[in-house]
Amino acid sequence: MRFTLPRDVYYGEDSLAELKHIKGHKAIIVTGGHAMQKFGFLKTVEEYLKEAGLEVRTFEGVENDPTIGTVMRGAEAMREFEPDWIVALGGGSPIDAAKAMWVFYEYPDSKFEDLVAGKWPELRTKARFIAIGSTSGTATEVTAFAVITDPDKGIKYPLANYEITPDIAIVDPELPQTMPKNTTAFTGMDALTHATEAYVSLFHSDFTDPLALHAIDMILKNMLPSYDGDKSARANMHYAQCMAGMAFSNALLGITHSLAHKTGAAFSTGHVPHGEANAMYLPHVIEFNSKDPTTLKRYAHIADFLHLGGNTDEEKVENYIAEIRKLNKAMGIPDGLKDFGVHEDEFLEKLPEIAHNAVLDACTPENPRKVDDETMAKILKCCYYNTKVDF
Ligand SMILES: NC(=O)c1ccc[n+]([C@@H]2O[C@H](COP(=O)([O-])OP(=O)(O)OC[C@H]3O[C@@H](n4cnc5c(N)ncnc54)[C@H](O)[C@@H]3O)[C@@H](O)[C@H]2O)c1
Ligand SMILES: [Zn+2]
Repeated sequence: MRFTLPRDVYYGEDSLAELKHIKGHKAIIVTGGHAMQKFGFLKTVEEYLKEAGLEVRTFEGVENDPTIGTVMRGAEAMREFEPDWIVALGGGSPIDAAKAMWVFYEYPDSKFEDLVAGKWPELRTKARFIAIGSTSGTATEVTAFAVITDPDKGIKYPLANYEITPDIAIVDPELPQTMPKNTTAFTGMDALTHATEAYVSLFHSDFTDPLALHAIDMILKNMLPSYDGDKSARANMHYAQCMAGMAFSNALLGITHSLAHKTGAAFSTGHVPHGEANAMYLPHVIEFNSKDPTTLKRYAHIADFLHLGGNTDEEKVENYIAEIRKLNKAMGIPDGLKDFGVHEDEFLEKLPEIAHNAVLDACTPENPRKVDDETMAKILKCCYYNTKVDF
């Protein structure tokens, strides 16, 4: 068994300034489109690294949901510049892209298919990795995952290996202050889903449980004030999502994520954002999983930890689900895919295929209750019509 985290997590006000103390020669900053430049964070990062005596180059323009092509272009830029530090700055997209670039920088002959299949080379022969998160949800600054899209196949591949767990994570609460409201809501609910799924995952452990529970508690207390722009609540959400990430990087997830992955790009009515999908599906997945007696007790323990009340375990779990629904409602997250705007005909036509793909998703094996194609389709139907899972 293994529990892996970055060697250092710098957090708190002004933790970005730790960059001034990095020892090395050359740093490449990998970042996204405009946000980091617009709000001045990119410039600050460049200045701090220069102050540390490093030569700095920037690879900009990583798109949202980064593609294999971008990863290869970034790796090429790294091979040319030969940095000994990779500094990824932004949301999940640029940080995930930089993690994959790192592999192809160090091993240009690697095959993407091998990484997907779990065959990984040993990293840190050329560079180490600093991740600076600017959204409060994916926690990719501390996780062993990178999600890369193959646009030709229209598939998102989750790469998973402790090799890409960053060496240093910087969790500076100043960065997420500029997030738009929708992003705050979706990424926050993604983090709540990470912590909840990690707590009941088949791979949960005594090492991951405290992180998951404390993250859930912090998220329930801070989600709405953070959504409304409260500065300290936003900082707390930034820390809580990071703890949720520490938990799920080691305990893995469950079928809320399997369904979110496979419905994200499935419908002609438009993209279903990852965190919004999780927020809509989580209550139904809890209803399904809590039919398993051991898992029921674990969800009930979450409710106890939050002092939600309830006389029986079933009542406690219902109270936890009610809390999640309350958050969704307050932030304008729809009750289900129907309410979200997905057409019924298209949904029913695609349902068997989506359910089949969700069963095959990397997050399904660790879900505490086994699920086949037919059951997954029934759960997803409940997520569409917002009906109770009673099977
Ligand atoms: N690696 C993991 O463990 C993991 C986990 C979950 C999801 N993901 C992946 O991460 C990606 C999503 O990441 P994300 O939700 O962080 O969003 P993102 O990185 O795609 O960013 C979303 C948008 O927010 C903007 N933005 C980022 N920070 C901002 C800030 N502080 N102020 C204003 N705007 C800001 C970006 O410019 C972008 O337009 C997806 O590809 C998803 O599949 C990865
Ligand atoms: Zn997620």
